[in-house]
Amino acid sequence: MIMRPFNAADTDAVVQLWTDCGLTRPQNNPLVDIERKLAVQPELFLVGTVQDAVMGSIMAGYDGHRGWVNYLAVSPEHQGAGFGRRLMGEVERLLLKRGCPKVNLQIRAGNERAIAFYRALGYAADEAVSFGKRIIPD
Ligand SMILES: CC(C)(COP(=O)(O)OP(=O)(O)OC[C@H]1O[C@@H](n2cnc3c(N)ncnc32)[C@H](O)[C@@H]1OP(=O)(O)O)[C@@H](O)C(=O)NCCC(=O)NCCS
Repeated sequence: MIMRPFNAADTDAVVQLWTDCGLTRPQNNPLVDIERKLAVQPELFLVGTVQDAVMGSIMAGYDGHRGWVNYLAVSPEHQGAGFGRRLMGEVERLLLKRGCPKVNLQIRAGNERAIAFYRALGYAADEAVSFGKRIIPD
């Protein structure tokens, strides 16, 4: 797998990847999510490719206090081969380079596989309840 920043030509492949990985939700328009990310720290939005085909993605950001990770995905046929670990490792490296002291992420309730994956990478549940409020309906 080669990891590199997302570019606009990857859009269709990335949306397909997110669909195949069950990451899309009616309240999130993936095309709008991509457009917003390209305006803010686009260098922290990476894709993974195998033989030039997009099979992985990760979208990260540093807000000056915490780093955040979203849209981590490895296509089903490539899962379990260490690519998710490598994508997380690369983003941790890029966040660390910016002085980011801690990485946060949210896992949808019931995504047991992702919970096991993040635990294997040294992540643990924080003593916190995650709240959110949408301020732009897509
Ligand atoms: C979660 C996801 C990104 C993991 O990527 P992956 O490439 O399959 O994971 P890796 O092969 O890098 O696994 C890394 C470690 O996690 C652990 N792990 C992965 N899947 C696991 C599972 N189902 N059960 C237990 N442990 C698991 C492995 O033990 C592995 O450790 P090892 O390297 O010591 O063997 C991938 O399964 C995926 O895209 N899932 C669908 C989308 C999703 O849920 N994304 C996360 C949103 S929060």
